[in-house]
Amino acid sequence: MRLPSEHAPDARIAGLLLPWYDRHARELPWRLGPERAVEGERADPYRVWLSEIMLQQTTVAAVKSYFARFTERWPSVEALAAAQDGEVMSAWAGLGYYARARNLLACARVVAGERGGLFPTSAEGLRALPGIGDYTSAAIAAIAFGERVAVVDGNVERVTTRLHAIETPLPAGRPFVRHHVDAMTPADRPGDFAQAMMDLGATICTPRKPACVICPIAEPCRARAEGRQETFPVKVKKAAKPSRIGAAFVALRRGDGAVLLRKRPSTGMLGGMSEPPTTAWSARADGATGEDAAPFPADWRLVGEVRHGFTHFDLTLEVWRAVVMEVPDTSGWWAPADALDAEALPTLMRKAIETALAA
Ligand code: ADE
Repeated sequence: MRLPSEHAPDARIAGLLLPWYDRHARELPWRLGPERAVEGERADPYRVWLSEIMLQQTTVAAVKSYFARFTERWPSVEALAAAQDGEVMSAWAGLGYYARARNLLACARVVAGERGGLFPTSAEGLRALPGIGDYTSAAIAAIAFGERVAVVDGNVERVTTRLHAIETPLPAGRPFVRHHVDAMTPADRPGDFAQAMMDLGATICTPRKPACVICPIAEPCRARAEGRQETFPVKVKKAAKPSRIGAAFVALRRGDGAVLLRKRPSTGMLGGMSEPPTTAWSARADGATGEDAAPFPADWRLVGEVRHGFTHFDLTLEVWRAVVMEVPDTSGWWAPADALDAEALPTLMRKAIETALAA
């Protein structure tokens, strides 16, 4: 295949894409408005970092309200670093991939505690911080600090494999994608270029039915020239995900209906989050099910089941319900049923409790 190193870096694409971005950029709360961007001002690194961590594995639509709540409550990296772990886990509840929230706090504490509140300004420096990998370090360095680095997320992959008709299936084709993105990234406005590629992928160069007729880079697009735009990116077929099972035991206190919760271990799946007592389950093993698996004897009734798709497996939890007076050992706590929003409950556990409350 053609590699751009054989050519002068491909500046033509940025020349077409940046004027399009100046007119059509999505207005997102972590971006500067167009007038400030034109004056050469850059977005606040704290807001760029926070948005990029939230956007890992999550859509712009899902992130917006979380971003607004976080920045209102913790307007700076120092404010976030001073938050209690539990407050941050509760505020993150529902966004998923909870290791991100633990790393977010760890990162804020390094930046506030050891670096005087200043983020490293290069992708290489950023990558040394907790929770910041190849994509995120490049995105922050380009957007917040203007470093000329290749920023490659799923949208950028799709745009680039189409533009250059990259036939090697992903993930093996990723080095080719990176090579092309690097050759296209301009020294001037690398962050805007990255975000223009993302916006193009999100709004025009979509997975199905891309809107090539209004695309600013349709003319140089090889896939479009060959009428094969929807065949890219070529992907290796994924193996089917395994299914796992387990059981959640929702105990309701007689009288006020409070819900018994406990905290999951800080490492592992949904680490540090809250849950009703639940049998062990993991990507590699099923948990116990049935009444015998209950954490203590009570009049347990099976009231339904809830499902959740994790990255590497699908989980089904039986939901058991009992009304109880006292519980033997409690390392947990009683959460009033009308105050569950304040708890660090992952969506799966919230659904299990709702199933029990509705029964
Ligand atoms: N996805 C991840 N980062 C993004 C950004 N800065 N703009 C749009 N979509 C994104």
